[in-house]
Amino acid sequence: MRKIKIFDTTLRDGEQSPGVSLTMEEKLAIAEQLSLLKVDVIEAGFPISSSSDFESVKNIAQKIRDVEIAALARANYKDIDCAWEALQEAEQPRIHVFIATSPIHMKYKLQMNEDQVLERAVEAVKYAAKYTNNVEFSAEDASRSELEFLYKLFEKVIEAGAWVINVPDTVGYAIPQEFGEFIKKIKENTRNLDKIELSVHCHNDLGMATANTLVALKEGADQAEVAVNGIGERAGNAALEEVLMALVTRKDYFEDLVVTQDTTKILKLSNMVSQFTGMVVQPNKAIVGKNAFAHESGIHQDGVIKERTTYEIMKAESIGLNSNKLILGKHSGRHALKEFLTSSGYTVNEETFEKLFIKFKDLASKKKNLNPLDVEALINDELYKTED
Ligand code: KIV
Ligand code: ZN
Repeated sequence: MRKIKIFDTTLRDGEQSPGVSLTMEEKLAIAEQLSLLKVDVIEAGFPISSSSDFESVKNIAQKIRDVEIAALARANYKDIDCAWEALQEAEQPRIHVFIATSPIHMKYKLQMNEDQVLERAVEAVKYAAKYTNNVEFSAEDASRSELEFLYKLFEKVIEAGAWVINVPDTVGYAIPQEFGEFIKKIKENTRNLDKIELSVHCHNDLGMATANTLVALKEGADQAEVAVNGIGERAGNAALEEVLMALVTRKDYFEDLVVTQDTTKILKLSNMVSQFTGMVVQPNKAIVGKNAFAHESGIHQDGVIKERTTYEIMKAESIGLNSNKLILGKHSGRHALKEFLTSSGYTVNEETFEKLFIKFKDLASKKKNLNPLDVEALINDELYKTED
């Protein structure tokens, strides 16, 4: 069995979402909730980027125990010193050093060649390793980098003291099958990679972040970097709730992988992140969207009333929701209306029920967002008339 580590970057990559800015109190509240959910690593921020980021990382490092706390640093002494200063009171600190490795990034952004990048990466990892033996190295834009270069670079940074090697799909360019092959090749061709931890960090530009993460885990990656509600740069990161629930729900497929998180904390965390960031969760968002456990059509409602597993692969309770929902709308059938009547405390005879059902269908076809109160009003109206 392989234990998969969940590395949450909501407070770092997530906060890099356009327009998002979290206060120190909000960051601490999210970190507390992440720790209750039992993520393995919380990336608390990028300390050199601003004094408020520095203070938040320091605050989280002091207060959140039992979880590894990571801070991001570019591959230079100043960033690493600053990351360490913010982290030093953490129970389990991790310095996360990164440098870009793709031809595009090296040429245009860094204006460095492969040898220079390799030298800088090794020097930075060696420097960070003086502070802690928990150093993560990320090859930014790895999925668009030359494999031969990555093998060599990873070998050297492992020798220099990296404990985790992270392979980011920085611009969400990878396709699942291809990314799986990519990870497999890195595993097969990088000396000593089996002695340390391999991580992936997938962005969602083509909507494949979760799929890419899962395929990489299947191919032997040990750590998934994720963010709550999938927030992050541009189209965001792989969503924590999707990766986690896929691993749990499809245990049959991910048979040798173990996750130890408490999934019942997902919904509260999702609501909190949405409220603090102002980023609304789309209704049909997997796992945490308001429709994710709701059924409207008559056929589906009938199935679910008879046996939940007909149309549900997960229990609403497993993410912290009280129960699934049968939505009364124009597609609903008799079963749903009966269920609504019973759960609202009404007992009606067959004749009244049939009258009610016709009126309900009529109302539902006219009104877009049918509220339970509308249905109650309709029922009361009909019952009152009947008694008359
Ligand atoms: O997307 C990315 O490459 C990153 C790195 C800093 C890990 O966020
Ligand atoms: Zn990223």
